[in-house]
Amino acid sequence: MQKYAIPCAKSATFSEYNQAKDYVKHQKPPVVVKADGLAAGKGVIVATSIPQALEALAGIMESKTLGVAGNKVIIEEHLSGKEMSAFAFTDGKTVVPMVSACDYKRVYDGDLGPNTGGMGSYSPPHFYTPELGKIVSETIMEPTVRAMAQEKRPYWGVLYGGLMITGKGVKALEFNARFGDPETQVILPRLKTDLVDIMLAVINGNLNQIKMECSDEACVGVVMASAGYPGSYKTGFPITGLDNLDKDILVFHGGTKRGSEPGQVLTNGGRVLTVVAMGKTIAEAREKVYANISRIKFEGCHYRKDIALVE
Ligand code: GLY
Repeated sequence: MQKYAIPCAKSATFSEYNQAKDYVKHQKPPVVVKADGLAAGKGVIVATSIPQALEALAGIMESKTLGVAGNKVIIEEHLSGKEMSAFAFTDGKTVVPMVSACDYKRVYDGDLGPNTGGMGSYSPPHFYTPELGKIVSETIMEPTVRAMAQEKRPYWGVLYGGLMITGKGVKALEFNARFGDPETQVILPRLKTDLVDIMLAVINGNLNQIKMECSDEACVGVVMASAGYPGSYKTGFPITGLDNLDKDILVFHGGTKRGSEPGQVLTNGGRVLTVVAMGKTIAEAREKVYANISRIKFEGCHYRKDIALVE
């Protein structure tokens, strides 16, 4: 990103502990300390003071708390602002922006508690404007696809940009080569064009021929989770109420299985269901989701009550 001037957090990478320590001592908190390798979601520490950042660094590089994932660390400037997930289809040349979304990673209302695989999402973000969409496409998504081609690592498929809208502009936090979870559940219902046609155009390199259409309606999705999630949880509890929902409600089964009785559905995971509704406004979609979700029941079920609750 630095090489291609794609806006992102200022950062430096270190394989040597003493050099990383010196660098950290000269930063202004908060400082983000990241293990370079895969660390099962535990590799990023947002340190609010320099001593805390040094402690995190010592843990990763000296005590090897994350094993080889911590052989290299990235020390990054902390970005604050509004977070959003941007999506685009690309065949490596043409970049077609898809609708964007916001997700909720923490388990409890008010963004409290530990991180999860995602407790809900909504689309479009309440702060989304066509001007913001244009900035995202022109400064992040398109330059990234062009950069990858120039690096001789051309990319085609779905590009997901995890972005922060800061006071100093839009910055890229991360990229994924996939749709988001639980963003997929709220962006695909808004897609009017056949996804298969888009994907075939991605594969065949003729995405410039596709006229993609999306609904102007808002979409809200709330995840119902098992008691204890994201910690340990039990499964196998019967789910009731699935046949008592308004007919335009979508229910995505993430962690369920069929029971032995006809039509019976049992819990079979931490994040069990995502309940999704569309509406003319975010508020209307939200109201519909929560009116329906309360009809679905299983032992220990919990879900956030503040998904898409925007001022
Ligand atoms: N919602 C975050 C992700 O899919 O990575």
